[in-house]
Amino acid sequence: MNSLISQAVDVLRKGGVIAFPTETVYGLGANAEDTRALEKIFLIKGRPFDHPLIVHIRDAAQLGLWAVDIPEQAYVLAQKFWPGPLTLILKRSDKVSPLATGGAATIALRVPAHALALELLTEFGGGIAAPSANRFGSVSPTTVEHVRSDLGDNVDYFLDGGPCAVGIESTIVDLSSNAPTILRPGAVIQADIESALHQKVSVTQRSHTPSPGQHANHYAPAATLYVARNAAELLQRMQYLIAQDQRAVALCSSETPLDVHLPRLALSSDANELARALYTTLRAVDAQNYTAAVALLPAEDGLGLAIIDRLQRAAQK
Ligand code: TXA
Ligand code: MG
Repeated sequence: MNSLISQAVDVLRKGGVIAFPTETVYGLGANAEDTRALEKIFLIKGRPFDHPLIVHIRDAAQLGLWAVDIPEQAYVLAQKFWPGPLTLILKRSDKVSPLATGGAATIALRVPAHALALELLTEFGGGIAAPSANRFGSVSPTTVEHVRSDLGDNVDYFLDGGPCAVGIESTIVDLSSNAPTILRPGAVIQADIESALHQKVSVTQRSHTPSPGQHANHYAPAATLYVARNAAELLQRMQYLIAQDQRAVALCSSETPLDVHLPRLALSSDANELARALYTTLRAVDAQNYTAAVALLPAEDGLGLAIIDRLQRAAQK
């Protein structure tokens, strides 16, 4: 067996906290049944205790351990999209520590599509509760170096799985009440969920907590972020910021027409690549000491909707 995996499993069994890769972003993981270990996650992240975590499991066969009254739709979606960037909200069983679910009667479950994460889950056997491995409210990590620089010494073990292939957090679908609802858009898109379920699925104006509106801003760099719907708006905002003596940078594709003198951090015009590099680019804004950034929003379809969601949240400060 992979000795890095066995060391990570050892840390989990002893009540420690590990950073581990998934295909979306890096997670900060602990044993989902160990309340003391889970406490550490909240303290390390500076996350409010009522903000529930996602429990990562090895495969859909484990659903019945963690959830009760599981609707058929959960098995349909699991069969189609797991392992993958989809989280299901279901009624919880008593197995999970109440701390992982923020005291809620529901649980978030996901099987990640990353070889190391799956090996880890298989070897560990239990569930790993893990939020994104960043300080609460800041930019999610898509490399192990991001986690080291954000959380450093507080993490007991780092499992390096290279850069995350998807780059933004999983789609969350709530199946705990009557109508399936998308709570957070992600790489598994609404149209695919609807065609798998043969029914329309609504998308909520989500909140990150059970108390709506409390944590509107999220995924945010230290610089002030603005969003622009088109190149003209981008140019106008950039000119305004520069006139205000801001060190401002445009976040847009290299094809976007822009005054040559204006600084730009290039974002891909391909949505998959844009998602993959998004958080690294937001981190570069801060690393390069910009005080403001203006991001050009991608087209409003498919994965574009999830990218728009993250950018708008990062811009709400
Ligand atoms: O891609 C992902 O989902 C990553 C990787 C590590 O799996 N995890 C992640 O975790 O993004 P976090 O904690 O940053 O976001 C979890 C989201 C939060 O918005 C939380 O409110 C929601 O899941 N959530 C968790 N349990 C929930 C529940 N029972 N009901 C509703 N929302 C829930
Ligand atoms: Mg997060």
